[in-house]
Amino acid sequence: MKINRSGAVLSKIVQIGENLKELTRVNGKEYLPLNRGVNQVVPIDLTEVVKGIDFNSPEIQVYPHGAGRPELRAAINEEFFMGKSSSDRILITAGGMHALDLVAQTVCIGKLYLPAYYWGCYYKMLTIRNVKNAEYNSQADLLEMLEELEGNAVLISDPSNPLGDKHDDEQQLDIIRQLNDAGVVVYYDCPYRRLFMDGRDDYYVRLMDMENVIITESFSKSVGLSGQRLGFIYTKNKELHDELEVRVMYNTNGINGFAQELVLRLLTTPEGKRAVSDFKAKTTRDIALNIDYLKQRKLLADEFYQGTVPKGIFVIVNRSEEELLRHYIGAVSLDFFTKTRQTYASAYSRICVSVPHEKFVTYFNDLK
Ligand SMILES: Cc1ncc(COP(=O)(O)O)c(C=O)c1O
Repeated sequence: MKINRSGAVLSKIVQIGENLKELTRVNGKEYLPLNRGVNQVVPIDLTEVVKGIDFNSPEIQVYPHGAGRPELRAAINEEFFMGKSSSDRILITAGGMHALDLVAQTVCIGKLYLPAYYWGCYYKMLTIRNVKNAEYNSQADLLEMLEELEGNAVLISDPSNPLGDKHDDEQQLDIIRQLNDAGVVVYYDCPYRRLFMDGRDDYYVRLMDMENVIITESFSKSVGLSGQRLGFIYTKNKELHDELEVRVMYNTNGINGFAQELVLRLLTTPEGKRAVSDFKAKTTRDIALNIDYLKQRKLLADEFYQGTVPKGIFVIVNRSEEELLRHYIGAVSLDFFTKTRQTYASAYSRICVSVPHEKFVTYFNDLK
């Protein structure tokens, strides 16, 4: 059989998780899995939310609408766009990765410009879809690159994976606006932002009328539902929206009805909203405590936060993956997240700081 091979390979992060399990089995010691990219402070408590769900309702049992359930799209318009945009610009996807892949396969660009340190899956997805990539050093450099960026696209991730660096909203918006006005396509992929914000955040409203900005979002991080596989794409461009809808339809036959019902309830019912705000409050509290602790212990790699603040669910520490592993901490070496700075990056690691603070401290206290 002849295989149409993409050349992409499975992530090393999955392998690290397997190694930790094996180490626990061999030496009986529990490892702290900070290699993972999921919120681990608390799970979202869905007890009250799922009580009212009728699993036999047509919304769950019947093929879903191609663009996603109209009620869910309306709820997303309310939650993310303060009700000021339109559900017609929103398309439900099976998570953020699916959203990105749909965009990568549909929008005609020369190259996608990625930050120098980027989430490895972008590269894999581009490889599979045969889209070229290039690098930018920092968001501040983008305006000087306008000529070079013509015909290409730029990916904005904030707070990013892997750095967890949060840029100033106004400065970033100004850069995005100038890119948009110059005809440069912007992929705005910031699934960590909304963990720290709620419906009062007007950033999406300010992006919503930009012709060349495509937002890819996910409910994996902001409400802790990585298992449900739900996200969305927002675009003002009707032609793009229509094409994406066709592709979702003939690729999936519609996105999981249960996941859509669950997220709809999280966004619209009192018990859902309560579950979301409790989850966000507990999670962001421990993230902040963990980052403060790392700063105090001088373990945070400040060099990666020049003009930005460490805010995301990840940060970079000035210790190697191997050293952390000797202290029973799972991490991912930063060299995994860059093509051009691997030697420099290998002395640093990306860790997930979305874990219970007390447990986090127990493991890091031993680090000299
Ligand atoms: C920057 C970034 N974008 C998108 C995603 C996709 O998330 P999901 O496919 O779980 O919705 C991730 C997941 O780790 C991510 O880190």
